[in-house]
Amino acid sequence: MNDTFLKACRGEKTEYTPVWIMRQAGRYLPQYRKVRENVDFLTLCKTPELAAEVTIQPLEILKVDAAILFSDILVPLEPMGIDLEFSEAKGPIIHNPIRKESDLDRLRNIIPDDELSFVAETIKILTQKINVPLIGFAGAPFTIATYMIEGGSSKNFSKAKTIMYQTPQAFLRLMDFITDNTINYLISQINAGVSAVQIFDSWVGALSPYDFSRYALPYVQKIISAINHKVPVIYFAFNSGSMLELVAKSGADIIALDWRIEISDAVNKLSGSVAIQGNLDPCILFGTDELIKERVSLILNGAKGAKGHIFNLGHGILPETSPEKAIRMVDAVHNYGKS
Ligand code: CP3
Repeated sequence: MNDTFLKACRGEKTEYTPVWIMRQAGRYLPQYRKVRENVDFLTLCKTPELAAEVTIQPLEILKVDAAILFSDILVPLEPMGIDLEFSEAKGPIIHNPIRKESDLDRLRNIIPDDELSFVAETIKILTQKINVPLIGFAGAPFTIATYMIEGGSSKNFSKAKTIMYQTPQAFLRLMDFITDNTINYLISQINAGVSAVQIFDSWVGALSPYDFSRYALPYVQKIISAINHKVPVIYFAFNSGSMLELVAKSGADIIALDWRIEISDAVNKLSGSVAIQGNLDPCILFGTDELIKERVSLILNGAKGAKGHIFNLGHGILPETSPEKAIRMVDAVHNYGKS
């Protein structure tokens, strides 16, 4: 077992910096597109053999140091009573969004080992087959709440913020519901065998620091404290560099950064208390091999004082990326410091 990733999570010394890529299984890989020709996205997530197959693809192609379970942060919403569709053109669409307090009455608590048993099954297949740690994941409550309320992706989150500011008790009731279900979902992934978990808070950067502290952070803290160090927790709060000290209060073992913050500044602000993950701009992979190597080195230099560093992009790899460039990036991380 290659345990470089887990060592970095724990802040232990490693021979090289481990690397994986958010969305490393996905449409930029021809091998993934081939599987997707015969099956829609949600069916792929719900078919353990196929979900395991696409989880493994980037391990062999890129030689990354960790695998991430193939699924989506929105998969647990269906058994909650949310009518979810992944449209090829528009991405996720929710046909029965939450718009008022009484809509909360139709939400159902999930039993992950029962209604989401395909997730545990996929994890069990994977842990038998792979020799790198497997990362499980869930969306953070605020990000999941925005999908439930907006009904899909959003520019300014006006519907979610309307509920938040007009009827805060309804918003917080929704946050409590998502939080409790996310705890059960992550615990079931841990029991099935994942070695670490990442909490994706993709849209929390839409909040002011004050509202982040009030409406988002306490729920992430509750999830992380419920996990109680059973496995390392990575918290990815996209676009939150201006409130990094607050993000660090989540209690996560690893803070994932996007490219809007200089990694050395993040190390200084966190004063070596947590490990960090990141933070190459995914668009750097549209540059030349030389540019990729140079920017990888800049990040690895900048992260030197960190308690632990896991190299990653600052957001998911884009579908138009050439797999060759992703391979170059992984090689550059692994070969750093070797002449
Ligand atoms: O490789 C991995 O990282 C694991 C799988 C994974 C997916 N989604 C697969 C996916 C993970 C960890 C996610 C997380 C996710 N999903 C997030 C958080 C990360 C982020 O990007 O900020 C969010 C916000 C979602 C919601 C989501 N899922 C959107 C907005 C979309 C449509 C846009 C897009 O990128 O296509 C998806 C679909 C999705 N999730 C795809 C994949 C591989 C593409 C589906 C396809 O095959 O057509």
